[in-house]
Amino acid sequence: MDEIKQSIAKSIYTAIEEKVDLNDIYDKIEIPKDKKNGDFAYPCFNLAKILKNSPVNIANDIYAKITKDEKIGKVEVVNGFLNFYINDKYIVNKTLKEILSKKEDYGKETGKENINIIIEYSSPNIAKPFHLGHFRNTVLGKALYNLYEALGYNVIAINHLGDWGRQFGLLIEGYNRYKDEYDIEKEPLDALSKIYVRISKLAKEDESVMDIARENFKRLEQGDKELLKLWQYFRDVSLKEYNRIYELLGSKFDSYNGEAFYIDKMDEVIDILNQKNVLVESNGAKVVEVGDNIPPCIIFTSKGTTIYATRDLAAILYRARTYDFDKCIYVTATEQILHFKQIFEVAKYLVDEKYQKGLVHVAYGMIRLKSGKMSTREGNVIYVNDLINKAISKAKNIILEKNNNLEDIDDVSKKVGIGALIFNYLKSNKNKDIIFDLDESLRFDGETGPYVQYTYARTNSILKKADFDIKDIKVEEIDFSVLEKNEEVELIKELEKFSEIINKSAEEYEPSILTRYLIDVATQFSRFYNECNVLSVEDEKLKLARCILVYSTGLVIKNGLKLIGVECPEKM
Ligand code: ARG
Repeated sequence: MDEIKQSIAKSIYTAIEEKVDLNDIYDKIEIPKDKKNGDFAYPCFNLAKILKNSPVNIANDIYAKITKDEKIGKVEVVNGFLNFYINDKYIVNKTLKEILSKKEDYGKETGKENINIIIEYSSPNIAKPFHLGHFRNTVLGKALYNLYEALGYNVIAINHLGDWGRQFGLLIEGYNRYKDEYDIEKEPLDALSKIYVRISKLAKEDESVMDIARENFKRLEQGDKELLKLWQYFRDVSLKEYNRIYELLGSKFDSYNGEAFYIDKMDEVIDILNQKNVLVESNGAKVVEVGDNIPPCIIFTSKGTTIYATRDLAAILYRARTYDFDKCIYVTATEQILHFKQIFEVAKYLVDEKYQKGLVHVAYGMIRLKSGKMSTREGNVIYVNDLINKAISKAKNIILEKNNNLEDIDDVSKKVGIGALIFNYLKSNKNKDIIFDLDESLRFDGETGPYVQYTYARTNSILKKADFDIKDIKVEEIDFSVLEKNEEVELIKELEKFSEIINKSAEEYEPSILTRYLIDVATQFSRFYNECNVLSVEDEKLKLARCILVYSTGLVIKNGLKLIGVECPEKM
């Protein structure tokens, strides 16, 4: 679309004899809400002052002088606005040629390999089950990772594990007391979290338990070998468990350096803050003031211990040095908005402006289940593994019901079940709370993952019936100009937007833009397929061009789903 906008800007620029900067004209070109007002519009009041004339006169004047190139189909003048319509033939030809030449790379960009983008995501607290919030986090983070990677950046995925804190003193005591009662190897997170709940309760009743826990954590901090070994064990079994989920979602991390990694890196932070004279006393704690509207950032508690924020500051310093990041994007729940505001403010004392300005917090809303039927073994904690398994088995039932004799039913069910979950999470704006309904997200006829996946499978089956093989196609020989029905052109215009959509989704940290776009593509495809015969059309040229459109739609859907982390079964 950009080159069409360029073209329009140029034609206005020439018509007004270059009296206004070309970029200024470009920036003021709008996309009308109502397609009846064209694909693009230029409001001429922008020129009134400089050309010393009324917008209506200016518009009429430009209209009389304008010369169109092959990209612009039609120009209209309405009340001081110039409305531009894209030349359909141009879009049709350009888009399909581009898709056919780039195929799996359609929508992708290159050239930003030396811009480093950190995506810090997932980051669960070890020894606890992975809950729905972390699942939303992981799905969102993975999608952002894919989007930035597709745009050609050098992306670094970091899992900032919550692997340090006083709770480990308590957990160690609980482990020592109760370990024999649980099968920790088999269900580590379940066992460890149960142990933790039990020992916490006991500690509330019995102060001496709390004393032992405190002592444990102190020894841990001092580097006690035996206790560190135990802590390492908790970390290892947790990670092993999380990795099962990461594998299902296709998530990989370049670093699992969590909070514990920064224990020996906090002194430097404190030194710098001291040097800059910004560490002040407040109610016995040491804090840094971060402006009038937010509470100060605590660096040391009144007990003299460092906290979560202190470790995050050390991480910023470390990441600036290690990764020389242009952006460091943190994915967490909205509850942490204040925390990130505080540490991003304090960061200006620690790192160069370039890094401080590159810190971004991407916050997402809550997630709840509609049916309380899921296993909620621990209050409101829902085990993501259970949810995934349930989604897969339900998907299998639905697919079997459709009487499909698919050979690889298990693989398809897995892709559809997990795809339904991911798609549903990413469909809403990230900051919105979601009430999650598994049955709804598995419907084949709603705005769901399975619906979009099914559309892809449908394109495959149409092409198979048509005996179409992309390998036989010689792009130069295809006459795309036969695609001129409204449903064809609208579908192609939709496919053309793909790269713009990817850019926008990344820029706004909002994979929902891409997710909803894929629904639009699927819907537009359905309209096309209802109106335009593909398989039994007589005209061979038209049949071939339509097959290419079917193929191209499938490709965009597949590429798009992959970017949000959803795999596409070839058949469904
Ligand atoms: N472990 C934290 C949690 O589960 C999230 C960590 C977010 N990242 C950070 N750098 N503070 O809530």
